[in-house]
Amino acid sequence: MSDLKNKAINILEELGLEKWMKNIQIMGDEVMLEVVSHSPTMHERKKLENALKTTFAQRMPEAKLNLRISIDVPQKPIEIKGKPIDGVKNIIAIASGKGGVGKSTVTANLAISLQKMGFKVGLLDADIYGPSMPTMFDLEGEKPYSVTVDGVNKMGPVENYGVKMLSIGFFISGNDQAVVWRGPMASKALKQMLWDAHWGELDFLLIDLPPGTGDIHLSIVQQVPVTGAIIVSTPQNVALADVRKGVAMFNMESINVPVLGVIENMSYFTPAELPDNKYYIFGKDGARDMAEKLHIPFLGEIPLIQSIREASDVGRPAALQDHTPVSEIYEKITQNMVESLVERNENLPPTEAVRITTMAGCSTPRKF
Ligand SMILES: Nc1ncnc2c1ncn2[C@@H]1O[C@H](COP(=O)(O)OP(=O)(O)OP(=O)(O)O)[C@@H](O)[C@H]1O
Ligand SMILES: [Mg+2]
Repeated sequence: MSDLKNKAINILEELGLEKWMKNIQIMGDEVMLEVVSHSPTMHERKKLENALKTTFAQRMPEAKLNLRISIDVPQKPIEIKGKPIDGVKNIIAIASGKGGVGKSTVTANLAISLQKMGFKVGLLDADIYGPSMPTMFDLEGEKPYSVTVDGVNKMGPVENYGVKMLSIGFFISGNDQAVVWRGPMASKALKQMLWDAHWGELDFLLIDLPPGTGDIHLSIVQQVPVTGAIIVSTPQNVALADVRKGVAMFNMESINVPVLGVIENMSYFTPAELPDNKYYIFGKDGARDMAEKLHIPFLGEIPLIQSIREASDVGRPAALQDHTPVSEIYEKITQNMVESLVERNENLPPTEAVRITTMAGCSTPRKF
């Protein structure tokens, strides 16, 4: 080993920095040294740099120090609570503070948009008060089938438009529509649909939560390892007040689920005969402003359009159409959701983040 190299290593040992040395090369009288800093702060890095430069200048005046400090800060992983579901990569809970804001319609169209982007998608309709996914996916009257996986009996999701689905509605027979699901019964059915089901490999499992922030929500989001939550709201003040409650619920310490963003539904109405006119029936920009106030991403706005309602009612969500203004609105919102997910999901390995953003047609992630 060259003299200069020996001397340099001695200095690092004296400073207690030998473990942080990543690389050392000697070129003539130049010492090319790379040291790793485990602190993200500029201040700490500057301190390290000054200490090394001063000591090298004093002890090795004959050498020229070419110093590089790289940063390696261990990422604090998001704590994923609950029991994972085999094969399911990302679980997204879709919530709304208030009922009737279009949460299920948004969820159905998000699922379709994700599927069209090439993702493997599942949808769990957990709305015990009014499961509407079977209707929206033209699956009324269907029943999950039974499948044996490794000798264990599992529930096989029903599938349409490339989206796998289980709904609390599949457990209600035609005459029982008025059944009020009691807490424990609903909880049991939901647990079965999550862990006793054969979802297979999924990139995304979307959960359509019941409206509100009650016990059933707490029990789902505490038991299921939810990757992120989305909140749907209209711009109306009464709905927005509940957005705040929804965000507060996901931020609770015992839940701690990152909110990926807010989607504003029924933002304005444009009559077909006056396509340039926008009528802000429920108020303007309410959800956008609320998202800003709460420091969460705003994922986009969906106008009030008759064809969205009609498409859901006939069991063919509007996002199934190609290159229509409506399907493009859903596509953009879905891309924004994926970008937000990749940004928030610090556990996602870079390759997975790139795969997801590429499939969604978003720009490459800003981080990494
Ligand atoms: N952007 C939209 N344009 C027109 N109609 C819409 C739009 N979004 C939702 N709707 C309609 O509004 C009604 C309520 O929507 P949806 O059932 O999705 O709301 P929800 O929040 O899931 O309600 P619930 O609280 O009952 O579960 C439905 O008839 C739906 O077709
Ligand atoms: Mg609903």
